[in-house]
Amino acid sequence: MKLTIIGTGYVGLVTGTCFAEVGHQVICVDNDATKVKMLQAGGIPIYEPGLEELVKKHTASGRLSFTTSTAEGVEKSDVVFIAVPTPPMADGSVDSSFIEKVAREIAAAMTGYKIVVDKSTVPVKTGDKVAETIKRYCKAKVEFDVVSNPEFLREGFAVEDLMKPDRIVVGVRSQRPVPALKEVYKPFNAPLIVTDINSAELIKHASNSFLALKISYINAISVLCEAAGANVQEVASGMGMDDRIGRRFLNASLGFGGSCFPKDLSAFVKIAEQVGYDFGLLKEVQKINSEQMNRFMKKIVDTLWVLKDKKIGVLGLAFKQNTDDVRMSPAIELCQRLQKEGAILTVYDPKAMDKARAVLKDVTYVDDMNAVADGCDALVIATEWEEFKKLDLQRARSNLTHPILFDGRNLFDPAEMERLGFIYKSIGR
Ligand code: UGA
Repeated sequence: MKLTIIGTGYVGLVTGTCFAEVGHQVICVDNDATKVKMLQAGGIPIYEPGLEELVKKHTASGRLSFTTSTAEGVEKSDVVFIAVPTPPMADGSVDSSFIEKVAREIAAAMTGYKIVVDKSTVPVKTGDKVAETIKRYCKAKVEFDVVSNPEFLREGFAVEDLMKPDRIVVGVRSQRPVPALKEVYKPFNAPLIVTDINSAELIKHASNSFLALKISYINAISVLCEAAGANVQEVASGMGMDDRIGRRFLNASLGFGGSCFPKDLSAFVKIAEQVGYDFGLLKEVQKINSEQMNRFMKKIVDTLWVLKDKKIGVLGLAFKQNTDDVRMSPAIELCQRLQKEGAILTVYDPKAMDKARAVLKDVTYVDDMNAVADGCDALVIATEWEEFKKLDLQRARSNLTHPILFDGRNLFDPAEMERLGFIYKSIGR
């Protein structure tokens, strides 16, 4: 099928590339000319496992192209996907101005029937607004359908999630666009749910909020575990063996971050407020998340006493593993809080150091994870990168002033760390 994706961020670029991989003809549109040039030349603006190879493969095969022209994309495609940012405003509600602008641009370029699919995470009822806007701004007065098709990919696993989705959600106002959407997704062999637009939009916010709730739940349990001398990982494993609960997203941590959960929670609380419901449960999820960071900081301060002029090594800057994304990263927040207390930081991340440099100043960036602890008073693990499990612990123990390790991601076994001579403080164990 001939498809256009407007917006080449995480969702747009990965979606477009995977659509090309399964055989569709794809045009990706972005208003950032520098980014488009980079993509046309085979470069990619983000780190995402497997993505660069696929972008190169399909720019070469001719199935994937990039342009700054929305009109070109609309003219050459049957289905136009919107995948532009929906950032938060100061009060936590969603800034829909990018979606609105793109809807007007699509309307202006339409000369025949098109299916306009929203993939961005949006407040319920946005589909209605998009339809109204297109109708108002389409001079050619042609027919069109608006569809809601939320995306559930995780950063760091985006290609994998997109190629093997758990489900495809398609929200429609009439049955007319359904066969085309089924055709688009046929190669992915996943269950496809057809529902109304409002339900589709709610599915996305409800899913992300539920996952965030799951993390805050286990983080709250981690506090009980610490108080009672239990082990949160054992508790999570025991709970997770119940199929109704499941083990995934029950990893206690110094809190969740990223460009989705914090923003979507605030948005959902606001959306609820607008329809007259006080979503106190989600406010508690947010509260537990910020307390988790406070508690981790307290552990560090309680152990090291005064942080002023203490040298601290930090492993991890990305908001999670397998990504170079540092937006709303708990690791960056932790570094900034340590700096505020006067600590001197040496930091390392496998992929996120370039992006971190823009937001985290006055730290020493090193290229080798094993060098981070050298000469430091303590070592902190802030991101759950798999490779940190292979840290040279003997070297860290010898080169730290005193072998103190704070693990915000529970990567090591407490008994083993004690045997190796570390003062080891993790989460809920
Ligand atoms: C999240 C959802 O998982 C995706 O399904 C969704 O499509 C996406 O938001 C989005 O709306 O675009 P993402 O933000 O990429 O994906 O990352 P997650 O893997 O969900 O992790 C979010 C945060 O939670 C990270 O900081 C991670 O470290 C933390 N986390 C995750 C935990 O602290 N514990 C866990 O058990 C799992």
